[in-house]
Amino acid sequence: MDLLIENIRGLVLATDNPSQPLCGSAMRQIPILKEAYLFIRDGIIYSYGNMPNKGVERADRVIDATGKFVFPSFVDSHTHLVFAGSRENEFVDRINGLGYAEIARKGGGILNSAKLIQQTSEQQLYESALQRVYEVITTGTGAIEIKSGYGLTTRDELKILRVVRRLRENVPIPVKSTFLGAHAIPGNSTREEYVKKVIDEMIPAVADQGLADYCDVFCEEGFFSPLETSMIVEQGLKYGLKPRLHANQLSRSGGVQVGVQHNAISVDHLETVGDEEIEMLKNSSTIPTLLPAAAFFLDMHFPPAKRMIEAGLPVALASDYNPGSSPTGNIPLVIALACIKMKMTPSEAIVAATINAAWALECHNELGTISPGKRANVFITKPMPTINYLPYAFGSNLVETVILKGQIFRGG
Ligand code: NIG
Ligand code: FE
Repeated sequence: MDLLIENIRGLVLATDNPSQPLCGSAMRQIPILKEAYLFIRDGIIYSYGNMPNKGVERADRVIDATGKFVFPSFVDSHTHLVFAGSRENEFVDRINGLGYAEIARKGGGILNSAKLIQQTSEQQLYESALQRVYEVITTGTGAIEIKSGYGLTTRDELKILRVVRRLRENVPIPVKSTFLGAHAIPGNSTREEYVKKVIDEMIPAVADQGLADYCDVFCEEGFFSPLETSMIVEQGLKYGLKPRLHANQLSRSGGVQVGVQHNAISVDHLETVGDEEIEMLKNSSTIPTLLPAAAFFLDMHFPPAKRMIEAGLPVALASDYNPGSSPTGNIPLVIALACIKMKMTPSEAIVAATINAAWALECHNELGTISPGKRANVFITKPMPTINYLPYAFGSNLVETVILKGQIFRGG
């Protein structure tokens, strides 16, 4: 099956597959081919070039993209989208002046979601998560990471990860799975007991059943210390789970240092980093992944994206889709927030949500750019004048036609 998209106003990130994520000033110069065509064969990007589409054989299907842009699908490298219920009451509590940490201390927060998940069947969890995946596909997400972390018992953590496995088998986009047993300490355990359980019981069970690619820890004051995080990460590594961490969200927790020391694939959040953390990241392959929807929703200080980019780091963006701090998986909105609140340019933010996010999810050879040989997960926008229009028109869904593995999923 061949698909030809022609008369494209701008083909975004049409380039050879970069050999590393785009760092610092390279994020400013997003490659865009004007007046282009894109030829897809058997689900794979076959070729692209300038119009007229010389040398392209006849396609089974031709789409006219006059006035429109074609993007590689977004990669969302950080979500918690398997969850039960919702937490809008805490949202109102915060409006009325309570803090996020305060709510957590009173048994709300992650423990509230854990209680709900423990009472929800695997089938119900699957159905609600499936809907969320389909929802984010319509806003341009073409690969996704999903974490456990609302189970907090071996039984419930495994239940969530089985839901993730079932999603991976049934949704039309790549799914990667992360074990986040160390997300909070459940009320009925001491921290020593719980850390021991994560290490001795949960990690071996998760790995034996092949249920996760990565191991995450919420390294934060009141949650898991740098030492506990190291112990958990090291056990994960022993069992073949690479680390990616929640670091420096609420305080300078030492999470970035632990991540870099263990070659974490990414350290995520980073609302509270200083020069020391930025310097460490510069000398590492760990990708700083920023989650501006969480900072926005919790009305917190935003990560210093500009400083990181000026330091030459390969910043990535993700949604953090979860019921407590970011009840959205809408990447165009995340891009708009990155531009408006962190002063990233549209080019930098789009690079951060595509190729750099693909590196943060280790799927850069398959996704993240329009490069021959990659999986044809792309979307066509509504007509728009420039890519800057995407974050400018925040709140509108400009993703018109979604193409996954060369098949039209929606629109067209
Ligand atoms: O990434 N910070 C830790 N975990 C999630 C939110 C957890 C929750 O409030 O449910 C996050 O923001
Ligand atoms: Fe998160």
